[in-house]
Amino acid sequence: MKARDLKDKYIKFFESKGHKEIPSARLVPENDSTTLFISAGMHPLVPYLLGQPHPLGARLVDVQKCVRTGDIEEVGDECHHTFFEMLGNWSLGDYFKKEAIEYSYEFLTKVLNIDNNNLSVTCFAGDDDAPKDTESAEIWERLGIKDIKFLPKKDNWWGPAGTTGPCGPDTEMFYDGLEIWNDVFMQYNKNAKGEYEKLTRPNVDTGMGVERTTAVLSGLNDDYLTDIFQPIIKKIEELSGLSYVETRLITSLQSTHQKSMRIISDHIRSAVFIIADGVEPNNKEAGYVLRRLIRRAIREGKNLGMENNFCKIVAQSVLDNQDNYAGIYPELDLNKNKILEIIENEEIKFRKTLESGLHEINKLIIRNHQVSGSEAFNLYQSYGFPVEMIEEELDKNNLCLDIDEFNKLKTEHAKKSKTLSAGKFKSGLADDSHVVTKYHTATHLLHAALRNILGEQVQQSGSNITSNRLRFDFTYHSALTLDEIKKVEDFVNDNIKKNLPVMCQIMPLEKAKESGALHFFGNKYPSSVSVYSVGNVESWVSKEICTGPHVENTGIMGKFKIIKQESAGSGKRRVYAILE
Ligand code: SER
Repeated sequence: MKARDLKDKYIKFFESKGHKEIPSARLVPENDSTTLFISAGMHPLVPYLLGQPHPLGARLVDVQKCVRTGDIEEVGDECHHTFFEMLGNWSLGDYFKKEAIEYSYEFLTKVLNIDNNNLSVTCFAGDDDAPKDTESAEIWERLGIKDIKFLPKKDNWWGPAGTTGPCGPDTEMFYDGLEIWNDVFMQYNKNAKGEYEKLTRPNVDTGMGVERTTAVLSGLNDDYLTDIFQPIIKKIEELSGLSYVETRLITSLQSTHQKSMRIISDHIRSAVFIIADGVEPNNKEAGYVLRRLIRRAIREGKNLGMENNFCKIVAQSVLDNQDNYAGIYPELDLNKNKILEIIENEEIKFRKTLESGLHEINKLIIRNHQVSGSEAFNLYQSYGFPVEMIEEELDKNNLCLDIDEFNKLKTEHAKKSKTLSAGKFKSGLADDSHVVTKYHTATHLLHAALRNILGEQVQQSGSNITSNRLRFDFTYHSALTLDEIKKVEDFVNDNIKKNLPVMCQIMPLEKAKESGALHFFGNKYPSSVSVYSVGNVESWVSKEICTGPHVENTGIMGKFKIIKQESAGSGKRRVYAILE
């Protein structure tokens, strides 16, 4: 089955049941700062699910563009995607469980001709927040479904999409054991206190993933074999000279290639849609997700031996997909050139960064005849260098990497960032911690700048960072002149522009102090400390004992600006600064 047929049939069926088709909302939420992207069909409809009347009435149907980055690491298997299309139908206080389930059943068995015996469903088992959903189960039973299971909240409950909002028990439908559709019965609103308030007017929200369902209905166990991905995969096969083999026939080398092809097609398809909705690669939020998607695709390209720029060509194959996208999403046609240009520029830029990373590796090899696990981790951090590439370089020189040490550092770092990022933007790659990290590195550069411009008697005496600004206290006798402020800003901005790597080295405390790393006098430090240097390890601009985390490269920090200065007590000054 073609994806287009599924979409058309779905819309037509629900139109025949009195639903009005609504266009897909933009991928970037208009009035919701809690998530970076629309992640489900219901997401743009939240105000209506909470009671506002919809201009098109109480029965709606659509194909909604979605992006989920929560399990980006899973992309590469048969069924995970960052971008996907979701079919959905809604009842805004109109029909409820009975009709919703009957419609689902009729669509599956009469329109898609699925045999009753191949269908199974799950329903909510009940807990302290809401009772067992026997009502749904009884409706399914009446329709002749035999395989009905009750599962807890983690399986059969949906929402809210952010931290608050409409939610409720759901019933999921499986074809030959694979989930294809989800009917959510939105009976509750989860409030900021975490309580489930009963909605006076319950709604139905359903969701069917186009990619997954197209594959399942075509008897394929791999979404990438559908007509949605095949034109993209074919392009990658052409560019790499390798072939995408069906999983069951595969050797292990082919399986790595297959994984890379899937990641490239997934990520570039997402990038195309994200750019079409007005996002450009940068280091903030949605722009940062976009940048990471493109960079990850480029790295996977290396696995396939694709050393020349290829992202634009792959993007073109997405834009050319007549069955699914071209002529269907006007934002793609309208922004074609812009999309291709942005993707191409980002690739050129990243390849340059990779080149300098390679240069650093080779310098280490020549100097030390080895790259240690922590040096490899620094390269990974600073240049976004995949560890496999570091290993390859070492291998060329008959050296090997202490992968255990590397992995240990990576896990430690991931833990740290996770703790920091708990909270906002749970569904995205970017989060508050990313902004805070930039400010953190900015304080190091500011410290260096002040010592450079005002003299080495300047000592940091405190700092405080929020996601909006940094505050830095230091020893100095008088207010800074406008000229001094300008010089400090220039110093920081020049070093940001130089796109300097930030390196972390772990060393004994005494060695750190000897090496000139700045530290708080009188602070208690452990016997082994991490030292962050901005610039190259030999010719650094800033070097401090610090626990991090810091940005990988200063280039991503934006523009530094001092917005205020004041006294912080006798012999002490305080400045506030922002990154724009
Ligand atoms: N919101 C539900 C989902 O994402 C149904 O649309 O599965």
